[in-house]
Amino acid sequence: MVHDPARATPWSDTTSTESAADKRTLYRDLQQELAALIDGESDPLANVANAAAAIYHTLPALNWVGFYLLRGDILVLGPFQGRPACVRIPLGRGVCGTAAASGQTVVVADVAAFPGHISCDSRSRSELVVPVRWNGGVVGVLDLDSPVTSRFDAADRAGCEALAALIAGSIANLRDGS
Ligand code: SME
Repeated sequence: MVHDPARATPWSDTTSTESAADKRTLYRDLQQELAALIDGESDPLANVANAAAAIYHTLPALNWVGFYLLRGDILVLGPFQGRPACVRIPLGRGVCGTAAASGQTVVVADVAAFPGHISCDSRSRSELVVPVRWNGGVVGVLDLDSPVTSRFDAADRAGCEALAALIAGSIANLRDGS
């Protein structure tokens, strides 16, 4: 599938996500559209920027979505949607640094209860951070913040892990400066 600006997309439609089935459909459509957006485009900055915008404008109840790129042992802010955010997060610090260091997705139902949570936006109440892997290593993270406590469930986790896999090659290239 190629990207067609005239086609209805998950981010241009008003989509109900009341049921688990609706949520799976939303993620499936978003994954297809993200694949179409980056298909044939080699510029990693363009692709990662579009990924942040597509996710932010599709999934409901979010106040921030973006990527951090792992450079050495520091996560450095990459393309995002939302308010300006913390630029550098050491590996192992905060939710993002914890996910990157462990290589495991971290779902935080209540950020106030997560020791070491780094507050970049006072509206954030819950958070989902997915490590982005490429060639067997972590190259960055996908971070989603919500103003709603317990916003993220297992379907969000699986859906965002699939999105992270789709954009991983672009994240790796962007990190390497190519
Ligand atoms: N809360 C994150 C920091 C990044 S912002 O949410 C955009 C953390 O604890 O790592």
